Amino acid sequence: MTTAILSALLEEQSGLVAMLQYPQRRVHAGRVFWTGSLHGRSVVLALSGIGKVAAATTATALIERFGVARIVFTGVAGGVGEGVRVGDVVVAQDYVQHDMDASPLFPRWELPGYARARLACDAALSALLLEAAHACVASAQGQFDLKTANATLQVHHGLMASGDRFVSAAHESDRLRTALREAGHEVLAVEMEGAAVAQVCMDYGVPFAAVRTISDRADDTAHGDFALFVQTVASRYADHMVQSFLEKL
Ligand code: ADE
Repeated sequence: MTTAILSALLEEQSGLVAMLQYPQRRVHAGRVFWTGSLHGRSVVLALSGIGKVAAATTATALIERFGVARIVFTGVAGGVGEGVRVGDVVVAQDYVQHDMDASPLFPRWELPGYARARLACDAALSALLLEAAHACVASAQGQFDLKTANATLQVHHGLMASGDRFVSAAHESDRLRTALREAGHEVLAVEMEGAAVAQVCMDYGVPFAAVRTISDRADDTAHGDFALFVQTVASRYADHMVQSFLEKL
């Protein structure tokens, strides 16, 4: 039973590759896949690429070519929900594609052909990620020079939104949160890949779970906050999270 660990960024993946035992590098569909053993588990490490299509291709390759039994995504996200701060961790309960709009043919956000807007993550894998996230946050507390250094870091569990857009203006994230809320969807964070991987995994019946550390607030300073977080903190979170998760598997 091989577990795929999908990372969004090279910065988040490099620590995992360095720890891999019996590493083998394989190139397929223009992507690099690392197979081997990590913390005693058989894994494939891959980069999702940026955006929904790149992530869907990577997920499909992981399933079709590498026969993975489950896919776990680790990465960063922009905090959109109130109280979701830089340094917090969000474990996805389910996903919506915020740029999916086939209205008036289908209700806003509904995935045509799926009769729903929200795609659920695997409950058992998500529970393990939640435990890993709590362990990770407890040890990260006060360690990093975060924008929210004075606040207690929190773990959240709920709806994540993906779309092919880096949300970098407060008015845009406010609009997204409000529009989703009016339709009964309380969104916690925004990123650019997870919902696509969730859709591919649903198509193939492969369990999927995702955890994202909040790098920015998807507001007017998001681009700078994101870059700083990725350079300084993201890989330490990813290493710890993945270790903790694999040990519980
Ligand atoms: N990933 C991290 N921050 C993000 C943002 N603000 N928008 C989209 N994806 C992100």
